[in-house]
Amino acid sequence: PLPEVRFYAETGSTNQDALDWAAQGAPELALVVADHQTAGRGRFSRQWFTPPGAALAFSIVLRPVQVSTAHIPLYSPLGALSVVQALENAYHLKPQIKWPNDVLLNDRKVCGVLAEALWQGEALQAIVLGIGINVAPSSVPPADQILFPATCVDEAVGRSINRWELLAKVLKVLLEWHGKITTSAFFAEWQKRLAFVGQMVRLENPGGDSFESLLLGVHTNGHLRLQLDDGSERSFAIGDLKLRPL
Ligand code: BTN
Repeated sequence: PLPEVRFYAETGSTNQDALDWAAQGAPELALVVADHQTAGRGRFSRQWFTPPGAALAFSIVLRPVQVSTAHIPLYSPLGALSVVQALENAYHLKPQIKWPNDVLLNDRKVCGVLAEALWQGEALQAIVLGIGINVAPSSVPPADQILFPATCVDEAVGRSINRWELLAKVLKVLLEWHGKITTSAFFAEWQKRLAFVGQMVRLENPGGDSFESLLLGVHTNGHLRLQLDDGSERSFAIGDLKLRPL
């Protein structure tokens, strides 16, 4: 059966719409798509900019069965890897993943992913996977309003692409990986595209701590592996920290 889709010319946040829908019984793979978000949200309670006619903003309801809470952090990389492989397949681009789940083109952010869980007591009801992609130049926020340099798909491709074709391609890849996020194949494809491996990076904790360190890679559980100055290795849970190149 085809997934159910709700399209909004304008909405607050497709993640909020999908969470509300999931709470009311949305089926697995229910999809919310918006042309324009007035209250798009990002990680760490940041705002996400989705002006009309220029971006892709959508959220998909996943109903994980028997997923241990330890695997929840692998859902947002599922979104990132799906966007990366769609961009590779469709436009021959070479995107990378800035840990844990930003997609970069030419070292600038083109896509963000926000996974939110819906709980009923201790039981996980659904995961809403929200993906925002800058497609046309007007979807790129002004430089003084962002923390990391940004770009858009059209700039990298060199022409104006069709947003809905890109959406279809992302969904196709996502459905292929869905259910396989704990496999070594998923891990290998993710790690292969990780940005800044072998480079010095600065990790910033939303709480304010920040330090510089060598990026080694990711663990199979999704944690980031860093090498400290004294040569020791340390890992960081997804969602704890913010990463920037020096
Ligand atoms: C980030 O980079 O911090 C994540 C940004 C996620 C944005 C997408 S756009 C579709 C969905 N709806 C939202 O409100 N947020 C996500």
